[in-house]
Amino acid sequence: MPNGPVIRTYGPRRTSYTPPVAQHAAAARPASTGAPSDLLAPYLVREEPYYRAVADEVELYEAAYSVRMPMMLKGPTGCGKTRFVEYMAWRLGKPLITVACNEDMTASDLVGRFLLDANGTRWQDGPLAVAARHGAICYLDEVVEARQDTTVVIHPLTDARRVLPLEKKGELIEAHPDFQIVISYNPGYQSLMKDLKQSTKQRFGALDFNYPEHDIEAEIVAHESGVGIEVAKNLVHIGERARNLKGHGLDEGLSTRMLIYAGSLIANGVAPLAACRVTLVRPITDDPDMRDALDSAVTTYF
Ligand SMILES: Nc1ncnc2c1ncn2[C@@H]1O[C@H](COP(=O)(O)OP(=O)(O)OP(=O)(O)O)[C@@H](O)[C@H]1O
Ligand SMILES: [Mg+2]
Repeated sequence: MPNGPVIRTYGPRRTSYTPPVAQHAAAARPASTGAPSDLLAPYLVREEPYYRAVADEVELYEAAYSVRMPMMLKGPTGCGKTRFVEYMAWRLGKPLITVACNEDMTASDLVGRFLLDANGTRWQDGPLAVAARHGAICYLDEVVEARQDTTVVIHPLTDARRVLPLEKKGELIEAHPDFQIVISYNPGYQSLMKDLKQSTKQRFGALDFNYPEHDIEAEIVAHESGVGIEVAKNLVHIGERARNLKGHGLDEGLSTRMLIYAGSLIANGVAPLAACRVTLVRPITDDPDMRDALDSAVTTYF
């Protein structure tokens, strides 16, 4: 299987499913405002990631980037947010630094810290400081997982000031002209205890993502998994049936990612029924009645 888009993250390297890269003609890439610094070279997305535009999100994002507006990508799991930001970074010719947020993350994990080594102490920029200093797109994935006292460090970068104070170091970074911050946000997962503050939300423009409409989703599933379009369409039908069960026993709809998993197994010779059970039914619910309902949706199409 060909490699996926070349992307470096501060978290562990992705070891999970790596989708194939687009074969279709490269889209026009707008002129860059200048070569990124050597330090950011590993973060450049060198091959065009396959991204099937669903509406006018590409144009809207380009317009937002042109004024360096901080952006929030909202939508359920597995619907294309990460793929979109990888594609946009490639299209804009900008390095992409991704940070997977979690509740143990501290402001220092983002901004940087002093490290002790044989020669004494030295400062090490965190991913947000690297992006702001050298001019990358910084993608904070699942930002709501971070504690609010961590999230507020992005505030001075996401208003007219565009600065990042490194309090421990006594330095104020003025953001590089190419720097932009992007966050992802799943509106279904929020509770009162865990949500972004209004003062954070109101610093961002937002794009809504959702599962694409039938034919587009089938095209994506076929492209990414290698199954034929008819099989892909059946998988999408099953996905749509399952999505209707959201709120009636299922907490979350069945994602495009799961449909691609199903397609990948089928493309590798696994019988469709077994493939769908492994990838669509069992991961999403343990409830026997719900499993029966999903199984019957599967047998309608395979
Ligand atoms: N519009 C699209 N064009 C191309 N591929 C897509 C698109 N939407 C979804 N995909 C496929 O679905 C997979 C899952 O999408 P992605 O990882 O971007 O989801 P996500 O919204 O970031 O999910 P999460 O919130 O769980 O991180 C991608 O790896 C890609 O194969
Ligand atoms: Mg993602």
